Amino acid sequence: MRVQVAIIGAGPSGLLLGAKLHQAGIDAIVIEQRSADYVLGRIRAGVLEQGCVDMMDSLGLGARMHAEGLVHGGFNLGYRNTHHRIDLHALTGNNVMVYGQTEVTRDLMDARAAWGAKTVYEAENVRIHGFDGNTPSVTYTKDGKTHEVQCDYIAGCDGFHGVSRASVPAQSIQHYERVYPFGWLGVLADVPPVAHELIYSNHERGFALCSMRSKTRSRYYIQCSLDDKVEQWSDQAFWDELRKRLDPEAAASMVTGPSIEKSIAPLRSFVAEPMRFGRLFLVGDAAHIVPPTGAKGLNLAASDVHYLAHGLIEHYQEKSVAGLDAYSGRALRRVWKAVRFSWWFTALMHKFPAAAGDTGAISQKIQEAEIDYLLGSQAAMTSLAENYVGLPYEV
Ligand code: FAD
Ligand code: DHB
Repeated sequence: MRVQVAIIGAGPSGLLLGAKLHQAGIDAIVIEQRSADYVLGRIRAGVLEQGCVDMMDSLGLGARMHAEGLVHGGFNLGYRNTHHRIDLHALTGNNVMVYGQTEVTRDLMDARAAWGAKTVYEAENVRIHGFDGNTPSVTYTKDGKTHEVQCDYIAGCDGFHGVSRASVPAQSIQHYERVYPFGWLGVLADVPPVAHELIYSNHERGFALCSMRSKTRSRYYIQCSLDDKVEQWSDQAFWDELRKRLDPEAAASMVTGPSIEKSIAPLRSFVAEPMRFGRLFLVGDAAHIVPPTGAKGLNLAASDVHYLAHGLIEHYQEKSVAGLDAYSGRALRRVWKAVRFSWWFTALMHKFPAAAGDTGAISQKIQEAEIDYLLGSQAAMTSLAENYVGLPYEV
């Protein structure tokens, strides 16, 4: 088979890019190693920036998101037994949309099926070839048969553990990484959220986040040890710990119930540079990971897709490679700002073990001073708000 663009991975990056290219009449295939149900079963991000909302709208796929998603003009910062509202809309003129990654993925998968767009699920042994020359290709095995897809370009949208980044020779790529000394234990439950808006809580027992998927479905997280196993956390133990990390008002409105999903995610900052290698482009988690505080992972996937789709469409419609040549630089400028923000918000909100060289828990005192400063300064709150709602796209 021959296509113009081969997209590896059917997460948000691959499906958004596939939809943008389909809309522009560019022939693309999406090749995913898992089944569609498996991809839809992964509970991940929940907050969309305006750029991501606009992209779904521009694809004509925003109807369910606007009907079922929740527009939030602010969020709450829990600290010292109370919570303080960060008024995103008053500070920036923008809102965020609470709509789960699962739902975005479902809308994009349904659209591909309705369009009859080429998609292969359960592709085994996916390999990419020849991206440093003019005739790249992708091979995979399905139902015991090996298939080859020849293409002009390969989009590596296959996440942190994918084959795309791993196929780049070590001397051509630079990795930057920080691993945090804790994880997040997440629970999804069919109970009404503790508050109308999200609560990010800084507590001496550790960070907690109250999020939601709808008015009847909540998504909660607590900071946990990297050694913790999901099986050690009964639902009751989770609810008890979450309650202790919330202010009395929030704790009193907490409704508990059986968990539908429970998982532990490690926290990491990671960037691979550059994001282009000849005819291979890395997109989304394949190129970068941020800790989830601030909800930037999925939104960065959307901004990468925005820049790459722009470059590919310009190339096929106007025979110019300017946008493709600009892709890595443009994407990375926005990525690094989100890496900085996610690191900062993580550092502000979590309980850290004493750092080497610290005496008398100085880091803890500096963290408290920073929160006091933030809550008393319009300028500092505006900086938090403008990063949270999402920095503008370059083009
Ligand atoms: P992915 O969603 O990882 O998609 C990559 C796809 O490629 C997958 O479907 C995978 O099966 C497929 N694939 C992998 N290898 C191959 C291969 N060799 N061949 C073919 N296909 C392949 N972000 C937030 O903002 N908030 C959160 O709360 C949050 N929680 C998260 C929790 C977890 C456990 C994880 C892992 C991530 C979380 N994120 C969160 C980040 C967010 O979900 C990601 O940034 C987002 O999914 C990135 O989309 P992507 O399409 O680039 O990558
Ligand atoms: C969610 C996850 C986040 O990391 C975040 O910052 C906000 C919300 C969520 O899963 O709903």
